[in-house]
Amino acid sequence: MKKIVILVLALGFSMLVSMGFAQGEGSAMGLFEAKCSKCHQAERATSTKKDAAGWTSTVNRMKGKSPGHISDVEAETIIKYLTESYSR
Ligand code: HEC
Repeated sequence: MKKIVILVLALGFSMLVSMGFAQGEGSAMGLFEAKCSKCHQAERATSTKKDAAGWTSTVNRMKGKSPGHISDVEAETIIKYLTESYSR
């Protein structure tokens, strides 16, 4: 009986952890897709690879094209996401 309780708890915990991770990644990705597909397809970014400095300057340049569309915090999240997923 004890074993089952522990098993259920462990299972529930691991599900929570994996859901948390998936959500974190999903929201950065969702933010990127929502913000960066306004003027061109998101693939414009995902089809290239840049280092952290490259993404920082590109995202800030894109941010400047439409004042108010992307906030500082959102730009940071997007830069982090792109640097982690699409860097050389
Ligand atoms: C207000 C419109 C607009 C938004 C919003 C926008 N872009 Fe762009 N983007 C452009 C235009 C126009 C060009 C082509 C001219 C140029 O490169 O400046 C472009 C070009 C690009 C390029 C190719 C040129 C390069 O520097 O590599 C990339 C990559 C890119 N955008 C990524 C993004 C990302 C990432 C976002 C979200 C943070 C974004 N864009 C949001 C208008 C936009």
